Amino acid sequence: MLSHNPMGHPDNPIMTIAAIILYLLLLSHQTVSEEQVYVIGEKGENTTLQCLDHPVNMSSVLFHWKKDGAVVATQNPSNPSEHLSILNNGSLRISGLLYIDEGLYTCECQTSNHSSSWQTHSNVQLKIAGGPTNISLDISPATLLKNGTLYVNKSADVHFFCSSESYPSQNLTWTVENLAQDNPDRASGNKSALEFSISEIQPQDQGTYTCTSQNTLSMTTVNKSKELLVYYAPERHPECSWEVGNEPSDVLFICTWYGGYPVPILHWHEVYEKSVIAKGPTINFTSKETERLEILVNRHILHDKEEVKCTGLHVTGVEKSCSFNLEIPFPSGNPLVTALEGSTITLSCSETNALPPAKTVWKKMDDVINNTMKYIVSEKIPIYELTIVNVTKDDAGIYYCYSENPLGARELEVILNVKTSAGNGGAVVGVFISILVMMTGIVVGVTVYSKRDRICIGLGFSHLDDDRGDILSLVDSDEEEIFSDSAQQLPPLTNGHVTTLVEIHRIPSISHEENADRTEHTGQAHPDQTEAAHQLADGQGPL
Ligand SMILES: *[C@@H]1O[C@H](CO)[C@@H](O)[C@H](O)[C@H]1NC(C)=O
Ligand SMILES: *[C@@H]1O[C@H](CO)[C@@H](O)[C@H](O)[C@H]1NC(C)=O
Ligand SMILES: *[C@@H]1O[C@H](CO)[C@@H](O)[C@H](O)[C@H]1NC(C)=O
Ligand SMILES: *[C@@H]1O[C@H](CO)[C@@H](O)[C@H](O)[C@H]1NC(C)=O
Ligand SMILES: *[C@@H]1O[C@H](CO)[C@@H](O)[C@H](O)[C@H]1NC(C)=O
Repeated sequence: MLSHNPMGHPDNPIMTIAAIILYLLLLSHQTVSEEQVYVIGEKGENTTLQCLDHPVNMSSVLFHWKKDGAVVATQNPSNPSEHLSILNNGSLRISGLLYIDEGLYTCECQTSNHSSSWQTHSNVQLKIAGGPTNISLDISPATLLKNGTLYVNKSADVHFFCSSESYPSQNLTWTVENLAQDNPDRASGNKSALEFSISEIQPQDQGTYTCTSQNTLSMTTVNKSKELLVYYAPERHPECSWEVGNEPSDVLFICTWYGGYPVPILHWHEVYEKSVIAKGPTINFTSKETERLEILVNRHILHDKEEVKCTGLHVTGVEKSCSFNLEIPFPSGNPLVTALEGSTITLSCSETNALPPAKTVWKKMDDVINNTMKYIVSEKIPIYELTIVNVTKDDAGIYYCYSENPLGARELEVILNVKTSAGNGGAVVGVFISILVMMTGIVVGVTVYSKRDRICIGLGFSHLDDDRGDILSLVDSDEEEIFSDSAQQLPPLTNGHVTTLVEIHRIPSISHEENADRTEHTGQAHPDQTEAAHQLADGQGPL
């Protein structure tokens, strides 16, 4: 606050301000008397030092100028200098100022007709200021982007250095302009170079760093700026997922990797296992600078048991990936079901193998079974059930639990056997007989299967010495033989299966277990047979 002095003392603020203004005016122009005047000149520029308060009649006055007591300029000199010259009104002109021009200049004059002594009219203190020039800044370790911006990795220790040249001295200041900080000043000093460090730099330190250099004499200010970005990779791993497309043969692979700056580069690729036969085109290398990469993949380029991988690359050098193993569907369940006429029966199938997840439906012949009065289809993933209401003789036959994913399709064959409830005694006998026939078939089948090498070598059934060998008609599908009478009007198994990738697998009935218990010599062979049948049905063969 300014003080109010009622007496109008020189402390009066208006007077003080007026005095300051006057003083400044006097500074900018040179002033009279013995008092010293300061003049600041810029190196390389020109200046004029005024000689004031001299007699009005110029023609009768002689001028000369002294510097630090020695005469440096006279009027009409014998060898005129470009650097120093006296103007008609006595002022001294100095062109192309040098640092050595600094000093105390005195203007003296003499009236020529009197030949009196020299009188001092002006004392001028000349100061030369130079710069700031050659301002340079360095931020390290940092990487230069094409547009001139620098970036550093998060947690790096970053060193900021600035220097410039100034005479007689300078004030250097580092400031940062960013969103996170209110106070932009980072450091300041009056040396020729100014440096500071940020240890473990964080994203909030990102901003525009400016080094300002101010000449302490001329107050000339120069600055230089650099935009500094702080890069960081996402902390977590990328995430791989999929979405089944509109067509069951298509799948959308989705890879996301969020949380990095700037965004990473993602790409999907296949990882071939050593045993995988690389057939067909591989996934086109689809790579993109993004946090989320989706590719629509078709069945023709995927292989069962293939590992598909998404790799994320971040500019900071971090590389992380996610992957999953593709699996073809493998519906499983009880392949042989017997129902009494008029009852309600539920066929069940489970699909846990497929990846990406499969679409699973029940089919009879080639027709997909939907919910009707007759059928109730339900799914409680991974269990798929088909309930047949009021079973009749016509319901007997083969049902398929058909499971498809982008790798391919497989189906479980379920044979429904329908028995009439009428005539209990007859039914019991019938069931007993059919079990007996089944057992016999299995025993024979297993026996023959275990001796299949011999059969294969043999030229015909007539060569078989084994008893009951004459009833054999098939070797590698003994079960079909057994059930052929109960499921009479069956279509050929491959009939109408338009999808070439479909594979059918059959699992031996549970009733075989009971047989095994009662039939000593098949107890050992049975598991082998199960596995062999499985393998044959899968079309894979022993590994
Ligand atoms: C003397 O002359 C110069 C150039 O003509 C001028 O800039 C300066 O102000 C003059 N000085 C005085 C005191 O009149
Ligand atoms: C320079 O490029 C980076 C990354 O491409 C960008 O973030 C930044 O804003 C750019 N700076 C300027 C000044 O254009
Ligand atoms: C240097 O400049 C800064 C900002 O302009 C100022 O805060 C500081 O007081 C100055 N230092 C000196 C020694 O002049
Ligand atoms: C620089 O600043 C310090 C204190 O801030 C001061 O003591 C020193 O005289 C200054 N030097 C120059 C050349 O201005
Ligand atoms: C079962 O089917 C038979 C023959 O089609 C029919 O006569 C009978 O009414 C049906 N029963 C029920 C409960 O739907």
